Amino acid sequence: MSWLKLFMKEAKVTPWEVSGEVDYSKLIKKFGVSEIDGSLLKKLSKKGNLHFMLKRKVFFAHRDLDFALEELDKKNLFLYTGCGPSGPIHLGHAMVWHFTKWLQDTFGVELWFQFTDDEKFLFKKKSYKEIQEWLYENMLDVIALGFNPKKTHFLIDTKHASLMYPEAIKVAKKLTGSAVKASFGLTDSNNVGELFYTSMQAVPAFLPSVIKKKKMACLIPHAIDQDPHFRLTRDILPKLGYYKPASIQCSFLPQLKGAKGKMSSSEGNAIYLTDSPKEVERKIRKYAFSGGKETMKEHREKGGDPDVDVSFQYLRMFFEPDDKKLQKIHDDYKSGKLLTSELKEYLIKKINTFLKEHQRRREKAKKQINKFIYKEK
Ligand code: TRP
Repeated sequence: MSWLKLFMKEAKVTPWEVSGEVDYSKLIKKFGVSEIDGSLLKKLSKKGNLHFMLKRKVFFAHRDLDFALEELDKKNLFLYTGCGPSGPIHLGHAMVWHFTKWLQDTFGVELWFQFTDDEKFLFKKKSYKEIQEWLYENMLDVIALGFNPKKTHFLIDTKHASLMYPEAIKVAKKLTGSAVKASFGLTDSNNVGELFYTSMQAVPAFLPSVIKKKKMACLIPHAIDQDPHFRLTRDILPKLGYYKPASIQCSFLPQLKGAKGKMSSSEGNAIYLTDSPKEVERKIRKYAFSGGKETMKEHREKGGDPDVDVSFQYLRMFFEPDDKKLQKIHDDYKSGKLLTSELKEYLIKKINTFLKEHQRRREKAKKQINKFIYKEK
């Protein structure tokens, strides 16, 4: 069983279960992360207009976010996130990076963006060449999301090996095989690269401190499934003389079919940033799990259930920033005034507007890649 499956099974992390108050706290307890509470939201709101993903608890958990904000005030903070290039980028990734861009713009800080081509080569049944092709494609999407080229540095694990490897082995020396196995559910039959890999994911959390020769704080925006990596990283970095990285964590954007799990790449599960408007329409109409009733008559009488309705959840988590509009959609769907087909129509338009602009920028990104890849001074 993969560590992600193990993680999901133990934590019962599903979009539905993490959306209720009770289960939030269960999850938070189980993983030892903290909830982003009112006082933290207040501190965050002093940095800029609170993002709706914070208000709506899409980003709901953290480690040491208070510390990160203090270091931000001392101009001693950077952001770090990453992408494992093994397939097309879907809306679930875009949601995390959209918020990361907001953090970068609002905090005015550098972002270190790791592309883990080593990870995906080691963990997936794909050739090195295929992974390199996805690396290129994925970089275009990340650039197209609008990160500031002056403040964003791409680190590619195999391309920046001479910079990263000396730091990764310092982490690896403090990490036992049994710790890795326990954290990720790996066994003796996993390849040795898989056991080593988490050492590479730890590196960007302190590499800027190495490069700038000063001890800096790091804040990592990520989906909650990446927490095991950073739990290990947090144990080790103080032993190497660095701060523990802080994190701000979100729940998963549900897959289209609404079954348990996060949006991932198999038919009927995901919408890609490269999908055509027709494809988006087809996928939403065919697959997006509906909280509506069987017949129109019944729906008009009893109303739908927005909490399990994937289209509504996409609006809540990503595509409808306007609180008032969202509330109205919620209420109208619940009362039966708004039909599933109308709700889907609204979402399709929202997604296609977003993708049209994204795909235009994605073409332009082909000329910008060089500006983003980190160059050693
Ligand atoms: N392991 C992540 C993935 O599989 C990629 C990644 C590397 C990452 N560093 C990160 C994600 C930091 C979030 C934050 O996609």
